[in-house]
Amino acid sequence: MAIAWEHENGAGHGERLLFDTSVAHCARVYDYWLGGKDNFAADRAAAEQAIRDFPDIVPTARANRGFLARIVRFLAKDAGIRQFLDIGTGIPTENNTHEVAQSVAPGSRVVYVDNDPLVLVHARALLASHPDGATAYEEADLRDPERILDLAAGLLDFSRPVAVLLLAILHHIDDEDDPHKIVTTLVNAVPSGSYLALSHPANDLDAEGMAKMAQTLNEIMAEKIIARDRPTVARFFDGLELVEPGLVRVSDWRPPHGSPNWGPAALWAGVARKP
Ligand SMILES: C[S@@+](CC[C@H](N)C(=O)[O-])C[C@H]1O[C@@H](n2cnc3c(N)ncnc32)[C@H](O)[C@@H]1O
Repeated sequence: MAIAWEHENGAGHGERLLFDTSVAHCARVYDYWLGGKDNFAADRAAAEQAIRDFPDIVPTARANRGFLARIVRFLAKDAGIRQFLDIGTGIPTENNTHEVAQSVAPGSRVVYVDNDPLVLVHARALLASHPDGATAYEEADLRDPERILDLAAGLLDFSRPVAVLLLAILHHIDDEDDPHKIVTTLVNAVPSGSYLALSHPANDLDAEGMAKMAQTLNEIMAEKIIARDRPTVARFFDGLELVEPGLVRVSDWRPPHGSPNWGPAALWAGVARKP
């Protein structure tokens, strides 16, 4: 079933967006795992089936959000980054990138990019920037990184360091669309002193459960899931300097002491600096 959504496009004009709510979409399935309410029956059914296949998917999704908050804080506080390009933003939830960055450095500028129209509907929450900084939301596809860079240049100064965030998105890019080339295009566009941060579902951590879940979701969800092994994920960082502790299980990246979200997590994650 398709539903129409009247949306104000930021320029004061109404836009009509169409959603097919009968097919599960990854942003809404992920929202369900995080305890959000921005999902439809097909999304909830897919998310529940995935939990039956791989019960650790909920702690994995939550650990990924914890990683996001920790790395953005690290980038703003310790690395002095003031510009962020967050691709595959997801439906807004707690600790969105600009909230974490601007809590450390209010002047931070953040460009969000996603290709799910439901994320666009909620973009207003992402645009509530601190007055000293700025945020923008662009609807674009990671398979077209040149377009993303053109759009982001409206807010970001690519002669100064930028942190490119690719959290839990590259597994939606097929090998035939060459995810490594896409990442290289993005990294080539930012200057020395910039950072790349990413997390990626692993097929060599909790391999059996992940394979079962991916198979199920690939039959019912609009976007495909390709879990990858550690060496393949490590190649995304070629030519960059991984910061400590390197490429690790997402919950092992500088874990906070006594985190209540502590638990199993089947994602590889890392942050690296461009020399
Ligand atoms: C699993 S969510 C991750 C959200 C957020 N990055 C996080 O880690 O919490 C994946 C997001 O990537 C978006 N996405 C998937 N494929 C995409 C593509 N080809 N281009 C842009 N966004 C995409 C989805 O719409 C969804 O919002």
